[in-house]
Amino acid sequence: MQPERTLLLRRSEIEDVLSLRDCIDAVEEVFRLQGHGKIPSSEILGVKAPNGGLHVKAALLPRSRSYIVAKLNTNFPVNRTQSAKYLARKNSSVATICGCGGQARAQLRAIHSVLALKKIHAFDLNEGAAKNLAVDLSRELKLDIEPTRDLPTAIQKSDVCVTCTTSTEFFVRKEDVASGTFIAAVGADDAHKQEIDPALIATAKVVADSLEQSCTIGDTRHAIGNGLMRKEDVYAELGEIVAGRKSGRTTGGEIFIFDSTGVAMEDAVAAAAVYEKARTAGIGTFFQFAA
Ligand SMILES: NC(=O)c1ccc[n+]([C@@H]2O[C@H](COP(=O)([O-])OP(=O)(O)OC[C@H]3O[C@@H](n4cnc5c(N)ncnc54)[C@H](O)[C@@H]3O)[C@@H](O)[C@H]2O)c1
Repeated sequence: MQPERTLLLRRSEIEDVLSLRDCIDAVEEVFRLQGHGKIPSSEILGVKAPNGGLHVKAALLPRSRSYIVAKLNTNFPVNRTQSAKYLARKNSSVATICGCGGQARAQLRAIHSVLALKKIHAFDLNEGAAKNLAVDLSRELKLDIEPTRDLPTAIQKSDVCVTCTTSTEFFVRKEDVASGTFIAAVGADDAHKQEIDPALIATAKVVADSLEQSCTIGDTRHAIGNGLMRKEDVYAELGEIVAGRKSGRTTGGEIFIFDSTGVAMEDAVAAAAVYEKARTAGIGTFFQFAA
């Protein structure tokens, strides 16, 4: 039997076949499957380097055609949105984005597609990064984006706060977060990273992308480590909410925190969508490893 050939795709080819909407829909589907217990769990393999690290995430996507995906990711710091739909107030209009690097741009585009935001406060220790994001994305998304140096005031005025920094100390303080706020905590995806006050995590409704990962490498880890909460206190995994097994936001006053650490099944389902669309469109270059 001939081994399957590998389809190599350039970034530009992937951008041509996978729209943001396709990606959001695919990720919603995989979280629903996870919520119904249909995605096998996986662990992260990683290695630390002096100025960063390398990790490998694996996922199995059981479909009519099963996909096995390995994601190799390097993160050297010179170098996600279903949650908002289920956990933010429907009438959210003001957001603060903390950290204005590559991830912030992806987060803002995605959140903008599910919430009718009108005003964004952009905060970064590097003020130039906040200014650049404001200039680029206000034009692209036709949104009022304003760089800010006053993070506490920006958070107090916001319905939504997205954190996507490389910080190793928390900077979102419990006292600055109003009732009803939705926080997407995206940056802390390694044990040494931290963005959210552990006292806030311990009192809010925490939703994890993966319970195991959030409690070992996410912000929740620090609240558990400080003895402020237990793993059992995490309200839900996002998949349980998307699958309808647990409720999302039910009142305007709840503070929800989505502790995102990045799960390989998201990459798996996006890669599968790219593969299928690229095959249909006849693009990419086949490569035979075993030749
Ligand atoms: N959860 C996930 O699924 C997921 C996915 C991708 C990336 N990440 C993580 O998100 C983080 C950001 O990724 P990126 O690619 O945008 O990195 P980046 O280096 O491009 O940008 C990070 C930005 O955060 C700023 N920053 C650092 N500490 C800060 C602080 N305390 N307050 C305000 N701003 C601060 C930096 O100045 C920089 O502009 C990383 O930790 C990355 O590992 C998580």
